[in-house]
Amino acid sequence: MIPAWLWLLCFSIPQVTLETGDGKVLWGPQPVIVHVKDENDQVPQFSQAIYRVQLSQGTKPGVPFFFLEASDADAPGTANSDLRFHILSQSPAQPSSDMFQLEPQQGALALSPEGSTSLDHALEGPYQLLVQVKDMGDQASGHQATATIEISIVQNTWVSLEPIHLAENLKVLYPHPIAQVHWSGGNVHYHLESQPPGPFDVDAEGKLYVTMELDREAQAEFLLLVRAQNSHGEDYAQPLEFRVVVTDENDNAPVCPQRGPSISIPELSPPGTEVTQLLAEDADAPGSPNSHVVYQLLSPEPKEGAEGKAFELDPASGSVTLGPALLQAGQHILLQVLAIDLAGAEEGLSSLCEVAIVITDINNHAPEFTTSQIGPVSLPEDVEPGTVVTTLMATDADLDPAFRLMEFAIESGDKEGIFALDWEPDSGHVQLKLHKNLSYEAAPYHKVVVVVQNVEELVGPGPGPEATATVTVLVEKVMPPPKLDQESYEASVPISTPAGSLLLTIQPSEPMNRTLRFSLVNDSKGWLCIEEVSGEVHTAQSLQGAQPGDTYTVLVEAQDTDEPRLSTSAALVVHFLNAPPAPALTLAPMPARYLCTPRQDYGVVVSGLSEDPDLASVPGPYNFALGPNPTVQRDWRLQPLNGSHAYLTLALHWVEPGEHEVPVVVSRNVQTWQLLVQVIVCRCNVEGECMRKVGHMKGMPTKLMAMGTLLGTLAAIGFFLILIFTHLALARKKDLDQPADSMPLKVAV
Ligand SMILES: *[C@@H]1O[C@H](CO)[C@@H](O)[C@H](O)[C@H]1NC(C)=O
Ligand SMILES: *[C@@H]1O[C@H](CO)[C@@H](O)[C@H](O)[C@H]1NC(C)=O
Ligand SMILES: *[C@@H]1O[C@H](CO)[C@@H](O)[C@H](O)[C@H]1NC(C)=O
Ligand SMILES: *[C@@H]1O[C@H](CO)[C@@H](O)[C@H](O)[C@H]1NC(C)=O
Repeated sequence: MIPAWLWLLCFSIPQVTLETGDGKVLWGPQPVIVHVKDENDQVPQFSQAIYRVQLSQGTKPGVPFFFLEASDADAPGTANSDLRFHILSQSPAQPSSDMFQLEPQQGALALSPEGSTSLDHALEGPYQLLVQVKDMGDQASGHQATATIEISIVQNTWVSLEPIHLAENLKVLYPHPIAQVHWSGGNVHYHLESQPPGPFDVDAEGKLYVTMELDREAQAEFLLLVRAQNSHGEDYAQPLEFRVVVTDENDNAPVCPQRGPSISIPELSPPGTEVTQLLAEDADAPGSPNSHVVYQLLSPEPKEGAEGKAFELDPASGSVTLGPALLQAGQHILLQVLAIDLAGAEEGLSSLCEVAIVITDINNHAPEFTTSQIGPVSLPEDVEPGTVVTTLMATDADLDPAFRLMEFAIESGDKEGIFALDWEPDSGHVQLKLHKNLSYEAAPYHKVVVVVQNVEELVGPGPGPEATATVTVLVEKVMPPPKLDQESYEASVPISTPAGSLLLTIQPSEPMNRTLRFSLVNDSKGWLCIEEVSGEVHTAQSLQGAQPGDTYTVLVEAQDTDEPRLSTSAALVVHFLNAPPAPALTLAPMPARYLCTPRQDYGVVVSGLSEDPDLASVPGPYNFALGPNPTVQRDWRLQPLNGSHAYLTLALHWVEPGEHEVPVVVSRNVQTWQLLVQVIVCRCNVEGECMRKVGHMKGMPTKLMAMGTLLGTLAAIGFFLILIFTHLALARKKDLDQPADSMPLKVAV
């Protein structure tokens, strides 16, 4: 401690002046700094002589529960004021003499480990501690003072609490006290921690508060840690832990599951088939009525008259199954289910859940033909392959286009593959087509059985009889129309030709295994007639009104006798001639020929070739016809051989033997002339030849005899001829229209 005068000296800064006796200043004034040295002349002092302190059981050893305070008036920072604390004595010294420890520099009083252990077992005390404070630091010397600390031991009230149940959404004034903790020792500061951080607080008295409404759904439980600490923030004991449980209130309605895409249920699914399970979530406390959700089916309601419901709902599980009522493919249903918490109680919260359901089609319908019997369809056997025989139609009652796709097959009746089927993949039409040529001979009719089936596999009973259709096809025989040996026919006749003269014979082109019936279509003049079966064309009457040089065209029709539809026609052009032309007279005589009777199978070749240059130069084929004399026509037959020759045979079985002159009308283009073919008919011998013995007959004599006979005969004939020609010339002049058969033009020798 510095004395007061020195204080004055120090702070009224002294000045030094050197002056003479008469007061004359010799030096100065100069300021003088005086350093005063502290001396440990002051004694440390406790703030109180007696301290009264409460110590709680359970205080951890080493944690200071009391801090001594003492002061020293000596200069701070010097050893003179460097204080040290010591426990001088403890009373009672039970159960240990070292119950406490005192930190020498700070004066912090704490329980020693022994003290802590023994205090936990029994409530001892109170204790009196005599404590000393001394200056001069750790030196042995120095001033000192003493004080007494009375320590009363109090029971430990630092006990854990039961969990606190706090209702969520509590409507009270906040902060709202919820609990109280108490550290019975003195000098306590409370500190609170919440895990997770929550709206909790503790005040200086150890009262715990909740500062705002809680939401169980946000945080259902908190762990609170409350610490009792000394002024240095050190825990006296383990922190108290206790749980805050937020109790539930039914403040959450069930939440329906997200409405997803429609649930597909195949049609005809059996009752009991699981459709869906609704799981409405309720955020309220699990296991409590607040989250006990039950379900109630609102829609669809059972239809009137329907047998039972379409859907069944289990109220507890929310499982939806199919009921006994039938649902139809393609139906769209919106299922409405009420989810109610509080187990469905009236005050429960609810939500309307919706589930879309669509009934999908299954392939339970087989395709069926609209007609099971088709035809008979008549087809000519010459129709071309590819021709559509018939079109069959099939339908399928399924909805799904994939279940309506059909395929067709020929099941039977077409072993040869004559028919084929053709269809568009997505249509119910199938065409039965011809694939190969039909043949009436091979099969006059066909019964083709066509089946239809789905491309997709059929569900349920198999296809019925309607999946089969029978097409009956009748094959019509086709015969080619008859064909004649010429495309058109020509004949030349003198206008004097009498009725009944054969003009020509119309013949089929080749021998056919069918008979023809011939007729004339437009013989408007009625001049001609045709033999219905043989095809021989004759004059029907005298050609009254025909002019020489004219032509007359008649259409000849040939019909198949069995199939009158089949016919052909050809034009027959008849050239009318004036009279047998004169040049015919100039023709060389035909040598006589021999034929024997009864008729043999040989004849006489007649040549149309002429040496007359006028006639030979005419172009075209030769036509031959027997002269118009009916007897000649009856007895003889003339058949064309080739373009220039014809063949003359006996027409009757028996012709009177003797010399015959057979008139043959030859025509070529518009030229016509007549030949008289001399034929000697004799009796046949056994070889079918003329008999030799007929010597006196102008038959087949020996060569010499024949020569003589011939010469004689020639002379006679020559004479005859002269007579005839003379007569003819005269007659010609008289009547040009005289019938040809009465006009022997020429006698062949
Ligand atoms: C089918 O008939 C046509 C004419 O009728 C004929 O040209 C064709 O060769 C025939 N085809 C077969 C394979 O017989
Ligand atoms: C002609 O046809 C008939 C039946 O139509 C038949 O009996 C006969 O054998 C056939 N003849 C010939 C040569 O084809
Ligand atoms: C008969 O018919 C054919 C072909 O139509 C024709 O050329 C001819 O002039 C007709 N004949 C008569 C006499 O009408
Ligand atoms: C026609 O037949 C006769 C007799 O057989 C023959 O001499 C003549 O050469 C034949 N003419 C033609 C053009 O074939």
